[in-house]
Amino acid sequence: MSVHKSYKRVTTQVLQEMKVNGEKISMLTAYDFSLAQIIDDAGIDVVLVGDSASNVMAGHETTLPITLDHMIYHAQSVVRASKRALVVVDLPFGSYQGNSKNALDSAIRIMKEAEAHAVKLEGGQEIIESIQRILTAGVPVMGHLGLTPQSIYKFGTYSVRAKEKVEAEKLIEDAMALEKAGVFAIVVEKIPAKLAEKVQNAVQIPIIGIGAGNKVAGQVLVIHDLLGITKEFTPRFLRRYANLYEEIYKATQAYISDVKSGDFPNDKEQY
Ligand code: KIV
Repeated sequence: MSVHKSYKRVTTQVLQEMKVNGEKISMLTAYDFSLAQIIDDAGIDVVLVGDSASNVMAGHETTLPITLDHMIYHAQSVVRASKRALVVVDLPFGSYQGNSKNALDSAIRIMKEAEAHAVKLEGGQEIIESIQRILTAGVPVMGHLGLTPQSIYKFGTYSVRAKEKVEAEKLIEDAMALEKAGVFAIVVEKIPAKLAEKVQNAVQIPIIGIGAGNKVAGQVLVIHDLLGITKEFTPRFLRRYANLYEEIYKATQAYISDVKSGDFPNDKEQY
């Protein structure tokens, strides 16, 4: 059974059409060729080469240490695997906050060296100039509001954002400013579902939620969380669709046991 309409490449225009037609947008992260190929074959609409690679691929506590060179390496692998999905790549911490020229240079490296389709930046009105400059070069931009992990040391915790009126109002204003600047979609992370719905109603572009309820145009998750590889990470918003930690653990133990006992390889598994 096909879960998507066709294998034509998903574009930013297709996402807008999906939103208008009420078809929910599916988005997942990927950082390497093999997983990107599986989720692209399965019909995912958008693949995000997230800077969460810093956590799940490199084992850092935050997303801050990952560099632009690392992101380009991951993005190149994902782009090689993707036939249908729109591939969006995170601009990592420090690669766009300096000034708009810095932001444009980073976006251009991602588009040129990884052949990605769009970039994502965290932040609202404070980075609007950088977003405008990137857009002027013809590079599609996705926004990211709410819990923005690159600002974790400012927030102090990974708890739900914008529960208070002032922050909630700023978030809606930021979303409107991003839309006006020309971003094609916005990720909203870990905010109250009612606020996410208000944000979606305030703009025409798709809002993609993570921990933001289902009254938005689409959903995104980190692939390692969905697959149950990151077993310690159990936020309320996460639905696990597999328990790969257990599967991989058990398979590894079975392999060790077969090697130690001399059972592997057997007569049929040699030349
Ligand atoms: O880096 C990432 O994986 C993200 C998602 C959580 C949206 O930005």
